[in-house]
Amino acid sequence: MALPRVMASGFAPGKCILFGEHAVVYGHPAVAVAIESGVRVSVEQSNEWTLEGVAFEPSRHPHISHILDTVFEYDGSPLKMEVESSLFSAAGLGSSAALSNAIGAALQDHINPGQKLDPVALARMGHSAEAMAQKGRASPTDTATSALGGCIVVSGNQVEGTRHVFDAKLETPEGLRKWSINAVDLPDSLDDACLVIGFTGEMSSTGKMVAGVAKLLEEQPEMEGEMDAIGRITRAGLTAMSAGNLEAVGMAMDACHERLRMLGVSSPSLETLIEAARPHSFGAKLTGSGGGGCMIALTRDPRRVAEAIEVAGGSPLISRLGAPGVRLLED
Ligand code: PMV
Repeated sequence: MALPRVMASGFAPGKCILFGEHAVVYGHPAVAVAIESGVRVSVEQSNEWTLEGVAFEPSRHPHISHILDTVFEYDGSPLKMEVESSLFSAAGLGSSAALSNAIGAALQDHINPGQKLDPVALARMGHSAEAMAQKGRASPTDTATSALGGCIVVSGNQVEGTRHVFDAKLETPEGLRKWSINAVDLPDSLDDACLVIGFTGEMSSTGKMVAGVAKLLEEQPEMEGEMDAIGRITRAGLTAMSAGNLEAVGMAMDACHERLRMLGVSSPSLETLIEAARPHSFGAKLTGSGGGGCMIALTRDPRRVAEAIEVAGGSPLISRLGAPGVRLLED
């Protein structure tokens, strides 16, 4: 049996939703891309359990303890764990999914050094950790995009023009939910553009935003039309991405944002950053659940858009579209 590594490190990227947030809750597809920023975790054998230099308290870190105890059934010697994140947290960038995937990768390499990572297994493991930490309600979007990398479409059914990778299911308080996870190969022409993410500085609660939309639909059933429109825009955006047509992708982003605004999930700070980014972008929209959190802009001039976002009061992060997924890092 191979000896445990002195130190094992894993990195998993964060994600941005390009199209389909909120509508995905109602069965429409959502398109997400992995971004270059993410979470790095290293684990090392030690005399005591520590996380970032202080005693590890499992109850305060449900993702980590779920992966250690339930997934790996780890009963080895104590570990010194270090976590480094380049993501804004509670901002819709999938930081907890990236943490789950990165710790899963690092632990696997600690226990079975040299064994190749299985991104689908890590995506499933990350999804189970998210579900456990979020009272049984978690979509596999963040964990699948972080594990697989690139561009991922999550939907009730397979979407035309995508490659099926795996299916996910989860027993939620509302019953069994099933998803099809599909990948899209992005053409090289999209490498000409970058995403600039702008954090409003306001944390957002996905649960609260999703509940707000559900209430709106109950009170104004005609708003279902906005959901159908987001579904159509998502499919058009996907076709534009597959064709490498940046102008059309940008138009679809703008159109998606309009519909999300109608659903009441934008905020004054998101509008300010989007308005600042638009003159130098193909398109811009909120990303994730809204009500704060982040916006994204697609542009060939990322520095300029980042500056505009900063001047408007936001914190920018530049990424190419569709970064690689979870991976091991050398010591
Ligand atoms: O803000 P995020 O990344 O947690 O995005 C949530 C996306 C929603 O569609 C609003 C909710 C969901 O479960 O898909």
